Amino acid sequence: MELRKEAEQAIRESYALLSAEQNLSPQNERVNRSLTHLVRTLTRCQSPDVSGYLLQTPELSEERETLPGLCGQAECEMEKFWARNLISRADCHLDEFWYYPEYRELCRAEKELFENRSFSTISFLGAGALPITAFLLAYSVPDAQIVCVDYDSEACDLARQLGQKLDLSDRVDVRCMDALQYDPRDNELVICASLLQGREQVYSRLRRHHQGALMVRDSEGAYQFLYKAAELPTSGFRQIAKTAMDPRRINTTRYYEPDTMNAAA
Ligand SMILES: C[S@@+](CC[C@H](N)C(=O)[O-])C[C@H]1O[C@@H](n2cnc3c(N)ncnc32)[C@H](O)[C@@H]1O
Repeated sequence: MELRKEAEQAIRESYALLSAEQNLSPQNERVNRSLTHLVRTLTRCQSPDVSGYLLQTPELSEERETLPGLCGQAECEMEKFWARNLISRADCHLDEFWYYPEYRELCRAEKELFENRSFSTISFLGAGALPITAFLLAYSVPDAQIVCVDYDSEACDLARQLGQKLDLSDRVDVRCMDALQYDPRDNELVICASLLQGREQVYSRLRRHHQGALMVRDSEGAYQFLYKAAELPTSGFRQIAKTAMDPRRINTTRYYEPDTMNAAA
C-alpha cells in the first residue's frame, strides 16, 4: 500500500481504538499494538510531501486535534507501568524501557545545544513517573543538580522510588508541584517536557524571574499526530539553537536564552 494511505489508516485506527478503550496502559495489548504500529508508521512519514499530505488532509483534522491528548494519557500510563516494573526488579536497568534508545538519542542531541554552557541546576518540568531525561542528565552532567517537577503525586512517588533504586536520590530532587509555581535559580536550565500543560504561564513567569536558559520539546511533521506542536515563547527569550528532525527521535527541541537586547530597549 502507498505510504500516505498506510499512515492515514494507522492514524484512523489508533484514534478509533484509543477513543473506545477505557484502559490506555500497556497492560492493554490492543493499545500496545496500535500505538507501536502508529509510531513505527509515522517514523517512516518524515518526507515533507507525506507529512504535508497527512497534516493538510481535512478528513484527518479530528484525529490531529484529539489523538495527541489520547497518546499523552497513554504515555503517562506507560511511564507509571514501566516505573513500577523497574522498581520491582532486583536489578534496575533503564535500557530495558521500550523507548530508551529514543530518549538516549534525544538527550544526546539536546546536550549538544548547550555544550558551551554550564548550569548549576537543570530542571525538567512535567517530568513524569519515569524521568529518563533527568536520570540521563544526572549521569552525563555530574556537576549539576537535577530537579524534576510534576503535579501528579503518584508520578512523583514512583520517580522518587526509581531515583533511590538507581542510587541517584542525592542528584535528582523530585518536587510535587504545578510547574506554573516553580521558581528556577539564576544559573539554571529549565526544560519543558512535550506534555507540559500551561506553558504560556510558565514562560511568562520565567520571563519575569529567570536569568537562565530554557529548552522546549516540540513536535514537527507527521509526529503532530502524537504530540501537538508546542506553544513557543513569543518574547523575552531568543532561540539560539534547535535539534534537526531525525528518524531516531520523535521530538525536536529548541534552546533559548534570555533576550537581553530587547529587554534593554
Ligand atoms: C508523560 S509525562 C513525562 C514527559 C515525557 N517523558 C517527556 O520526556 O516529555 C508528562 C507529565 O507532565 C506532567 N505535567 C503536565 N503539566 C504539568 C504542569 N503544569 N505542572 C507539573 N506537571 C505537569 C503530568 O503530570 C505528567 O506526569
